[in-house]
Amino acid sequence: MTYSRIIGTGGYLPAKVLTNRDLEKIVDTSDEWIFKRTGIRQRHIAEPDQTSSDLALGAAQQAISAAGITAPELDLIIVATSTPDFIFPSTACLLQAKLGVKRCPAFDVQAVCSGFVYGLDIADKFIRSGRHRYALVVGAEVFSRILDWNDRATCVLFGDGAGAVVLAADSRPGLHASVLHADGSQAGILSTPGQVCGGKVTGDPFLRMDGKAVFKSAVRVLEEVARETLALCDMQPSDIDWLIPHQANVRILDATAKKLGIDPARVIVTVDRHANTSAASVPLALDTAVRDGRIRPGHKVLLQAVGGGFTWGATLVEM
Ligand code: UT7
Repeated sequence: MTYSRIIGTGGYLPAKVLTNRDLEKIVDTSDEWIFKRTGIRQRHIAEPDQTSSDLALGAAQQAISAAGITAPELDLIIVATSTPDFIFPSTACLLQAKLGVKRCPAFDVQAVCSGFVYGLDIADKFIRSGRHRYALVVGAEVFSRILDWNDRATCVLFGDGAGAVVLAADSRPGLHASVLHADGSQAGILSTPGQVCGGKVTGDPFLRMDGKAVFKSAVRVLEEVARETLALCDMQPSDIDWLIPHQANVRILDATAKKLGIDPARVIVTVDRHANTSAASVPLALDTAVRDGRIRPGHKVLLQAVGGGFTWGATLVEM
């Protein structure tokens, strides 16, 4: 039987940091309000000439190096993004070229903040088919481009960044179970409903959100999908070493951990440093905790995401 395992992680944050204090000069907000309501202290912002594929490249190179392979050995490249470089070609194809790789399949996944967890499950299925040995899965976003910088209810919440993993075929299971869900009837609570049409942007090109509705749904589905995924593995919340929920708001993370009865000390939190980076948030948090030595080989980690669509999902990973 062939399984997939994570053999390398990587992360990339653009150099420019925008603190809550910096935001006080842009909109009517305060460091105190942002930190108290969200746990966010700062976010990173891409330079005008930096795109999602550039950020993805930084994270991918780290993950490939940590995996101890070379880029041409990759059999599959998946990029989860809602802020692609272009309408087409896909950001994954652009990343493939930047990595100097040819021929392997490369495509984007669009599931907003759940995109990385969706991409991981897809890559796992490719590897389990026995025809693909190494897969690169990246979450990369430049949400700063789709924020309305006059809307304090949304612009303080997001940042730019990328995170990546390399999955390898293995005889021991690494990804034990994944559960994915979507509910398109809730599309309106979190969306960027603009279009490019006739050479012009029509509709609203900015991220719009009903924060309270997203908060309520997020806490509910994160608990549900955690229990669903653990049940598939015959495990209880107490059996996992680490919980990595989507890094959107520390209050969502705390509420999820509490509902699952998980000690907050076993929850990886990085939202304070990079805000909500959408599809990049889970792999960035995973990479941080792998590099600082908290997550070690053999640890069981539950990755969880929720976002626009409405989409959500979870994956139980043994490192
Ligand atoms: O990937 C998923 C992405 N989305 C999320 O994770 C968002 C989920 N939702 C949330 O995290 C929270 O709903 C928010 C952080 C967005 C808002 O927190 P809240 O506790 O639900 O605040 P609220 O919307 O009820 O707003 C409370 C007050 C309002 O003022 P009034 O009406 O009470 O006078 C807002 O106008 O806070 C005001 N407010 C702000 N004040 C200072 C809203 N944004 C800001 C701000 N600075 N940035």
